[in-house]
Parts: sequence; structure tokens; C-alpha cells
Amino acid sequence: MAFVIVLPMNIIKEYIRYPFMFKQDLKLKRAYFFVNPYRAVRKFLQKRGESNPHQYGETPIHVIKSLIDAAGGLKKYQYFADVGAGRGRISYFVQKVYGCKVFAYEQLGLFVKKGKKLFPKVQFIAGDFLKADLSKMDIIYFYGTMMKEKEILEFTCQVRKGCRVISISYPLTDYDSRFKVTNKVEITFPWGKTNGYIQQLR
Ligand SMILES: C[S@@+](CC[C@H](N)C(=O)[O-])C[C@H]1O[C@@H](n2cnc3c(N)ncnc32)[C@H](O)[C@@H]1O
Repeated sequence: MAFVIVLPMNIIKEYIRYPFMFKQDLKLKRAYFFVNPYRAVRKFLQKRGESNPHQYGETPIHVIKSLIDAAGGLKKYQYFADVGAGRGRISYFVQKVYGCKVFAYEQLGLFVKKGKKLFPKVQFIAGDFLKADLSKMDIIYFYGTMMKEKEILEFTCQVRKGCRVISISYPLTDYDSRFKVTNKVEITFPWGKTNGYIQQLR
């Protein structure tokens, strides 16, 4: 019996541009065959009593590429952090494309355990990124669309001067006036169009 796999056009375009992602996505598919990441995060947050446990989503690779380029790119010796890294797909991509040091902070132990095996060149760090030392980062990717104001402010306090922070859907200046937006990019997620913001401390 033959199986036909139908892929959306945007995914096919990504594989044509970045063929190495095809192999990685197959690895991810195999590793997560019995685990739905959306469900895993929902269960984790429900246990913690979160009012909105539907917080999982992944950034398309063309989106992270355009955001990092809009932030000025990354050199091999520089540090990138994905705060709330999920399965680490984006972290893998950034390490591969820019060759820089990549740190993936993630609260779900399962993602960290699998990520360490799948993507050995990425440094996975288990736990709450709000308590992490982010002082050596050159670019931080903050896909924190569901974060509460208190958490956003806890995060902004960890950012060092000179570090570029990429946020999705809202600029950090909405919460912390010490920042200035240096660039804004229109991006498309599977859930719709929005803006990505690049900002730094003044
Ligand atoms: C929307 S997903 C983004 C995944 C990935 N960054 C991407 O863009 O593809 C958010 C992830 O952040 C994690 N997360 C949320 N708050 C966190 C925290 N305070 N510390 C560590 N991880 C967190 C969640 O478990 C989830 O896996």
C-alpha cells in the first residue's frame, strides 16, 4: 500500500531553501510520534493552574530568519537564546545557519531531554528562563505572546545593554520605557499576520 504525504506549499518552499530541515523534521516526527507538543504544554500548564493553557506554537523558519536578519544577523562567536524554546526546532535552525552559540531555555523537561539528543550542538537549559542569567546573549528571541505583564517585566530586567531582543506581536516598549524599537517586520505565522519587533535598551 502506498502512502502519499501532502505537505503545504509554504513547508515545501522551506525545504527547497533549507534542505537540511527535511531530515531534522523527520527526526522530530519520529521522536514525537507519541507526544503531541501542544498537548504536552497544555497539560503542563493545566497542572500549574494556568487560566490559558493553550500556549504552544512554533515559529516558521523563514520567519526567524527574516527577524534575525532584521536584527543585524549573528556572527559565529555570538550568543543567541530562544527563551521558551519548545522542541528546539528554531534553535537548531539558528545554530546551523549562523554557526553561533545557541541556548534553548525550556520549562518542559521532556522537550529538553529529547532536544539534547536530537540537537547536540544546541545548549538546552531546563527550567524557568525568567530566572536565567541572560547577560551574555547578543540576540534573544522572545515569543511570549501569552506572557503576563509581571513576567514580561521580570524578563526585561534580565536583558543587558547592547543585546537585541526580538518580540512577537507587541514591542517591549509597551511595558518597559527603557527600550527603543530599532526595527519592525511584518511576519506570517500559521495563525495569521503580525509584526516582529527588534529592540534594545536605550
Ligand atoms: C510558543 S512556544 C515557542 C517555541 C519556540 N520558541 C518557537 O518559536 O518555535 C513557547 C514555549 O515556551 C515555554 N515557556 C513558557 N514560559 C516559560 C518559562 N518561563 N520558562 C521556560 N520555558 C517557558 C513553553 O513551555 C513553550 O514550549
